[in-house]
Amino acid sequence: MPTIKKIKKIGILCSGGDSPGMNAAIRAVVRTAIYNNFQVFAIMRGYTGMIENDIVELNSRSVANIIQRGGTILKTARSKDFLTKAGRKIAYENLKKHGIDSLIILGGDGSFRGAEAFSREFDIPCIGLPGTIDKDIAGTDFTIGFDTAVNTAVQCIDKIRDTMESHDRLFIIEVMGRDAGYIALHSGIATGAENILIPEAKTNIDDVVKSLLEKEKRKKLVNLIVVAEGDDFGGALEVEKYILKKMPTAEVRVCILGHIQRGGSPTCLDRLIASRMGYHAVECLMKGPHNVFVGIMNNKMNYIPLKDAVKNKQKIDKDWLKIVKILSS
Ligand code: F6P
Repeated sequence: MPTIKKIKKIGILCSGGDSPGMNAAIRAVVRTAIYNNFQVFAIMRGYTGMIENDIVELNSRSVANIIQRGGTILKTARSKDFLTKAGRKIAYENLKKHGIDSLIILGGDGSFRGAEAFSREFDIPCIGLPGTIDKDIAGTDFTIGFDTAVNTAVQCIDKIRDTMESHDRLFIIEVMGRDAGYIALHSGIATGAENILIPEAKTNIDDVVKSLLEKEKRKKLVNLIVVAEGDDFGGALEVEKYILKKMPTAEVRVCILGHIQRGGSPTCLDRLIASRMGYHAVECLMKGPHNVFVGIMNNKMNYIPLKDAVKNKQKIDKDWLKIVKILSS
């Protein structure tokens, strides 16, 4: 059994895009750490704040009344300087000034990549918490923020469907997800979309047009296409352009949901997983394993080495793609 490095002072930061539920995770980390007699420090604005020494100590009250709030009280950023060894060295010197000997990082795979390099270079134990609306990290059934984002998308699409039905229109709705199609897949299924276009499955746009033409013949003019922003064919505007080229008289409208999906009060599920993961992140620092991120698989905690989180991407189960096809016929 490798010996676990003893820690006393934990730094916590958010990095990359924010996601609803991050505050619930911060609260869980701070309160679990204080319960176990550790000191906790907020590193503001992600790795940028580490390099600029924007670091303040937190207490139990600092995280009062935040479990229900979207965004992150720590603020977040994407730091170019932390990608360099020189930047990471400055960050390390700043941690030393505060006596911070361990880190908990809330973010996605890019943030974990930074943490993995940092822990290797400076022997600082790091624990990742998967905070991203994209759900694009292998080894966990949940990421903090996905459930809220997808529910926001569903609420928006339901509203659009009302007006779409009234006007017999074709709507193309673009959702976020970077190069992953989970938000599109889940929100598309939940709103009864006729077509769901995701990067994990090759988009055959002519098939989409063919199905629309066939529906037009049956006077089915109401059609909903949900497209992931990272789809291989392109986003909603490209899809619209192609459809109008083939069907110039079609009543088409586009809606790009955008950052509305990143905000808002986290759902109960996101608050629960954030609380559970935050608690276990501190447990990991106390008892090991170190340099992992905390996932949940089949309702059990799953600890994945940060270096592997960097490499893997989630795969979409083939069953889902079949279900979409059958239910949208
Ligand atoms: O990774 C989360 C995410 O919201 C992606 O879905 C999206 O592509 C990206 O971040 C948007 O980033 P930004 O807020 O920097 O525009």
